Amino acid sequence: MKIITSIPEISRERRQIQHEKSVGLVPTMGYLHEGHISLVTQARAENDLLIVSIFVNPTQFGPQEDLERYPRDLQHDLKRLEEAGVDFVFTPEAQEIYPTGFATYVDIMGALATEVEGEHRQGHFRGVATIVLKLFQIVQPSRAYFGQKDAQQVAVITRMVHDFHLPVELRIHPTIREADGLAMSSRNSYLTMAEKEAASILYQALQIGKQTFDQYSGKDPKIVTKAIGETIGKERLAKIIYSELRDPVTFQPLKSLHAPALLLIAVQIGQARLIDNFLLQADGTWETGTIALGIATKV
Ligand code: PAJ
Repeated sequence: MKIITSIPEISRERRQIQHEKSVGLVPTMGYLHEGHISLVTQARAENDLLIVSIFVNPTQFGPQEDLERYPRDLQHDLKRLEEAGVDFVFTPEAQEIYPTGFATYVDIMGALATEVEGEHRQGHFRGVATIVLKLFQIVQPSRAYFGQKDAQQVAVITRMVHDFHLPVELRIHPTIREADGLAMSSRNSYLTMAEKEAASILYQALQIGKQTFDQYSGKDPKIVTKAIGETIGKERLAKIIYSELRDPVTFQPLKSLHAPALLLIAVQIGQARLIDNFLLQADGTWETGTIALGIATKV
């Protein structure tokens, strides 16, 4: 496994790969857990060459957010990636990606980037889309891997790939969870033991949400968000930030309860702002795969 920090060097390596060979890219911000590793394992199985990026992208953090204290452990990450059979790890400094004078961003318009997470984290998806486009340009992957855990990120990137005719296949991996249902996340490391136990309330609330959704088909979406609010309200350590039912492609609010729908929640527990979602499909399944624009494909 080769570790690369400079853009010219990764570009040089990329150019040496024969045209017919497939290249997989897994973009990450490091502090890797089983959720990340599941993407890496899938990507390893599907591509001749595998590149993982580790970059805590400053442009997707708001001024009041956790950029400075975002967890980092490069040595541990490199060990995990070596074991997973990764060929190249691209881990640039911020100055390499955003040199002095940098001025071009990708701005996604409308509900997709400005509502739900976008409303609470202004500029977040602009930063995400910008870094992902940059990584696509630098690495030129045949396939890129993202987790359904960040459902709105998936929808934003899918939109960008479509709108900019980017020659990359998106592969979306289902959310990997702890035994109690808590979605794995680097930010779970902010939680104390008691808070981590309390955090299983997100998964419980989504399950209640799904049951309510199934039971009240065709009715007002507020029935579902109310049930979720009540469930989260029972957990003393948890404070709900939002619960929303949205169209998975456009992110417009649902007018009535019908599949497909994305059920999204954000909850504050201690120092951690946690997000999770279920993708409710017409066949009664949830969580796996994506239907965003019909471009991204199920793993
Ligand atoms: P990061 O939070 O490190 O996540 C990297 C990838 O792992 C994302 O596609 C994310 O959705 C996926 N992932 C995280 N937790 C997961 C879980 N429990 N199960 C399955 N997949 C999971 O998301 C980012 O970084 C950044 O925004 C990035 C795309 C790298 C751009 O900076």
